[in-house]
Amino acid sequence: MKINMNKNIIPHNYQISVNDRRKSNQHNSFLLWFTGLSGSGKSTIANVVEQKLHQKGIKTFTLDGDNIRKGINNDLTFSPEDRTENIRRIAEVANLMVNAGLVTLAAFVSPYKKDRENIRSIVKDVNFVEIFINTSLKECESRDVKGLYKKARAGEIKNMTGISAPYEAPESPDIEIKTENESVEAAAQRIVDYITPKLSKQQ
Ligand code: ADX
Repeated sequence: MKINMNKNIIPHNYQISVNDRRKSNQHNSFLLWFTGLSGSGKSTIANVVEQKLHQKGIKTFTLDGDNIRKGINNDLTFSPEDRTENIRRIAEVANLMVNAGLVTLAAFVSPYKKDRENIRSIVKDVNFVEIFINTSLKECESRDVKGLYKKARAGEIKNMTGISAPYEAPESPDIEIKTENESVEAAAQRIVDYITPKLSKQQ
């Protein structure tokens, strides 16, 4: 049972603000959220974007399934309710990272539109860049890097996104990448070019 003690929690006012941190880092902080099917290329592209930003001296951190679902969220399954909770916690962690002054990258299937809208409200609209890695199910399934689609088709995995669970595609993402027509390098460069003005803009 969840006990909500929110009413007794009164935030303390700390003197060092997110803007102080942004000033000392000499760049803005925000969240790059990668959504798409399993095997669409989210982590691969996020990894190259992060390297490019790191080379420019930008402070970054990447959240993905490996460091989240094996750690803080290792109590969660792939049921719709648990996916919602997975994304909520990640959004809260991402929000802390944005407040710590980092350009935060997050690569999660995040199949439900309402969950992605919730991220936007947690980190605030101005800090949220939605990147849709639009790779068709056919292509993801033929790549099947982790062998999960084969298992899902055989009925060994329940609730597999694209097979036995829905993926609600974003209708107006900030950036859309079609990996069947664009290389990882070109996609990553396009993302970096898109966010470059945002890095120096005062919030
Ligand atoms: S989310 O839907 O809650 O956002 P998340 O991104 O954390 O999913 O985890 C997805 C990863 O877990 C996939 O890339 C895949 O490797 C693995 N996985 C295992 N089971 C499933 C499943 N039923 N549906 C989707 N991904 C799964």
